[in-house]
Amino acid sequence: MQSRHLIDLADLDTGELLEILKFAKLIMQKPDYYFDSCHGKLAATLFYEPSTRTQMSFQAAMLRLGGRIIGFDNPGTTSVSKGECLKDTVRVVSNYADLIIIRHPLEGAARAAALYSRVPVINAGDGGHLHPTQTLTDVFTLLETKGTLENLTIGLCGDLKNGRTVHSLIKTMSRFRNRFVLISTPELALPDYIKKILLQNGCQFEESHDLGKSMSQLDVLYMTRIQRERFGSQEEYQKQKSVFVLDAEKMKKAKFGLKVLHPLPRVDEIDMAIDDDPHAVYFEQTEYGMYARMALILHMLDGSTKKIDPRPESNSELCCKNPRCITAEEPYLPRIFTRETGRAACEYCEHPRA
Ligand code: CP
Repeated sequence: MQSRHLIDLADLDTGELLEILKFAKLIMQKPDYYFDSCHGKLAATLFYEPSTRTQMSFQAAMLRLGGRIIGFDNPGTTSVSKGECLKDTVRVVSNYADLIIIRHPLEGAARAAALYSRVPVINAGDGGHLHPTQTLTDVFTLLETKGTLENLTIGLCGDLKNGRTVHSLIKTMSRFRNRFVLISTPELALPDYIKKILLQNGCQFEESHDLGKSMSQLDVLYMTRIQRERFGSQEEYQKQKSVFVLDAEKMKKAKFGLKVLHPLPRVDEIDMAIDDDPHAVYFEQTEYGMYARMALILHMLDGSTKKIDPRPESNSELCCKNPRCITAEEPYLPRIFTRETGRAACEYCEHPRA
């Protein structure tokens, strides 16, 4: 049985994921055929954090399918500014819409929203945790531009600690037979719980502090910006920014067929001179994202086979120790921990409890 929500791309089994990608390709080839597929359906976008691509590509996707959109992108103009909690906002909006698409600065917020929604919830990015629809975009881009999801050497460069797109992409691509090169400063290295997933899936990986030295082995380079909004202070951010910049000099070392992806927005980590390089696919990636989201919306609105999980009860007296977890701000949430990956971890943000 499938989950009715998409919080993590792991909510889709590999068969379902490949079906959605196949469907995205069909929609891309014949978009006019699907122009009325969501007639009478309403999606709500609840964006508690800024966005250009995710919000607008979901809006474009819904409108191109003949559906309609309501929502907000500034919680300051909604009753959130009067103190309304996430649970109440979600309960109300799920009485209005057929689908909720939520972005939130706190980790685990989408999972929390799903507990109180009568309709499917899609995670459009929860703090530094996950961004599954960006991964759907990235995977569709790889399939279209590399022709395969397997046996690739994938370099990920930049803010591997706070980059939710990195976490989601590694979780998904480690299901296939791929090798990873993790390029970051020691301070912005990949969290241990994601490294553990690589090990569990039998994926080889190496850590690097030098993009230039790692270039020649890569089939895919996934560049990311340093996530200024996740730093404790400007000083810490200043030390990390501009450490890795992809420029023409480094591109000279690229393997034939390398594809450079970036979830965008870019700050300074890719020189603009690279934008028209044949290896660069990050602007095409945004268009692939719209078709991938069209396919996902149609999949999510087909409720015939979807499982409705009962709301879980607290299974612990203890609180999550992660200050950026949604449970730190919304104290009524059930305290739920899982032991699936060995040590107990918070079900919302996946941080270990100890
Ligand atoms: N890639 C991405 O999530 O971009 P936005 O923040 O503009 O939505």
